[in-house]
Amino acid sequence: MNKLKVGVLASGRGSNFKAIVQKVDNARVEVLIVDNPDARAIAIAKEFDIPCKVVDRKKFDDKFSFEREIINILELYKVELIALAGFMRILSSNFVEHFKWKIMNIHPSLLPSFPGLNAQKQALDYGVKVSGCTVHFVDAGTDTGPIILQSVVPVLDDDDPETLSARILEEEHKIYPFAITLFAQNRLIVDGRKVRIKDA
Ligand code: GAR
Repeated sequence: MNKLKVGVLASGRGSNFKAIVQKVDNARVEVLIVDNPDARAIAIAKEFDIPCKVVDRKKFDDKFSFEREIINILELYKVELIALAGFMRILSSNFVEHFKWKIMNIHPSLLPSFPGLNAQKQALDYGVKVSGCTVHFVDAGTDTGPIILQSVVPVLDDDDPETLSARILEEEHKIYPFAITLFAQNRLIVDGRKVRIKDA
């Protein structure tokens, strides 16, 4: 079987990266790119023998040359899908257009509620009774692209950001690998704002 070639971009812990590596059978992570030389994801790449490239934003004069370097690496590895897995930078519209509907992101809220940073704390502060996570295709906005999958968790009275994040993370590790599996099966059709799943 020809496996889909995936490139993962991460900035930190890398637990979604690890879930993708372990749970997606019809795709292969060809390269991990991190923007942060201290990202814990680097150790996971080593553990699974996956090439890892550090592209440190501080070493580039501007966002354009930083993103150009990332594009060069993704093209070198002939990546067919880019998975943002806790990648804490906003990609330019130029980058997003370059890989139109070939970039996915996982976000720890039920979008369109609570986009941006600290989504779990935003949900707690707002007082919602359920929250969850969203896998979506990336467009030029922040966490605004067409939604592929969502999963819901309860918000409990005694939750704090850590307990809620942990409950949501368990779901992230299920739906992100599943969304990539569906993409690799060519079953995701973007139709305006909607993503239809073929033979669902
Ligand atoms: C995850 O909870 C992910 O949803 C979130 O960062 C965490 C990364 O964890 N992403 C965002 O907030 C993006 N706006 P991980 O490094 O263990 O996968």
